Amino acid sequence: MGKNGETVTILAVETSCDETAAAVVENGREVLSNVIFSQIDLHTLYGGVVPEIASRKHIEKINQVMAEALLQAGKKLSDMDAIAVTYGPGLVGALLVGVSAAKAVSFASGIPLIGVHHIEGHISANYIENKDLEPPFVCLVVSGGHSHLVVVKDYGEYEILGRTRDDAAGEAFDKVARAIGLGYPGGPKIDKVSKEGSPDAIAFPRAKVGDSDYDFSFSGLKSAVLNYLNSCGMKGESFSQADVAASFQKAVVDVLTEHSMHAVESSGMKKFAIAGGVASNSALREALSKACEERGVAFYHPSPLLCTDNAAMIGSAAYYEYVKGVRHGYDLNAVPNLKLGQREKNF
Ligand code: KG4
Ligand code: ZN
Repeated sequence: MGKNGETVTILAVETSCDETAAAVVENGREVLSNVIFSQIDLHTLYGGVVPEIASRKHIEKINQVMAEALLQAGKKLSDMDAIAVTYGPGLVGALLVGVSAAKAVSFASGIPLIGVHHIEGHISANYIENKDLEPPFVCLVVSGGHSHLVVVKDYGEYEILGRTRDDAAGEAFDKVARAIGLGYPGGPKIDKVSKEGSPDAIAFPRAKVGDSDYDFSFSGLKSAVLNYLNSCGMKGESFSQADVAASFQKAVVDVLTEHSMHAVESSGMKKFAIAGGVASNSALREALSKACEERGVAFYHPSPLLCTDNAAMIGSAAYYEYVKGVRHGYDLNAVPNLKLGQREKNF
């Protein structure tokens, strides 16, 4: 299969947003190195990710991060069976840096290139720490740019049950955090401050999307929080940051849990996983873990470091593409709005 008999070793690269990352992964499940250069401090100054700054920083860091990943893994480039890279979805300028670097390394070394879907990477993060997890299972993917409820039918095969109609869950966390003065990145800050507040202090709406049992909508909830803050301001009253955070978080967690369990029940599946940056939220993990336990469903989740953007998850997803024979040509391009399950043509 690989250069070393049964072992397939992949150098993976991820630059879709504000993390410059590279990793070396064996057989999709063993992480030999996982190097992440986070740009968060740079973007915090502006209250969110500035695409031009992200691209520029990726260019500065990408070679170093790839070299570091090989070094930490104790491997040489020539030991690699494939070079994998996220080619979408994400910020186009940011994606292009990783795609160009991976293509250059692949071309110069003759090692095959594999383009990976970022969300498939997030889902695959579950395979790394749960060695027994195999499809089919239901997966809730909640990140800064995406909220999807999917059935993972097989490796690389997805049926999308529901998605957000407007803001992604992480986007709602980030916007509400900014509105209550917590700053960027909002998710971890709301998670932390919520522990000091009451989730029942303010009755924020649990949005229903009329014609779908699985779709999400978070913009109404965000507006309800903004209206609440405005009305406090008009009345000259102060508000409790912790109560607003905890009540908002509870509203998001309730909707995500309800829809996820509906998907588990109607699909009859006994395995449920979560993925994406918001999957590291402690209240969400607690609620889903309890709901799964009540239903006798096995609950899988990556550790927080593998929930947010990293390249190990890309190396995991790439392995399952590799064994299927997927290889990409040097015409592989960044696809900022790549759909889940969409494939670029093979070599
Ligand atoms: O998956 P990710 O690193 O990047 C995307 O692919 O979008 O997700 C980042 C998102 C951000 O919106 C961040 O605020 C959110 O995940 N996030 C969290 C937590 N940690 C990160 N949201 C809620 N609670 C957390 N603990
Ligand atoms: Zn992501």
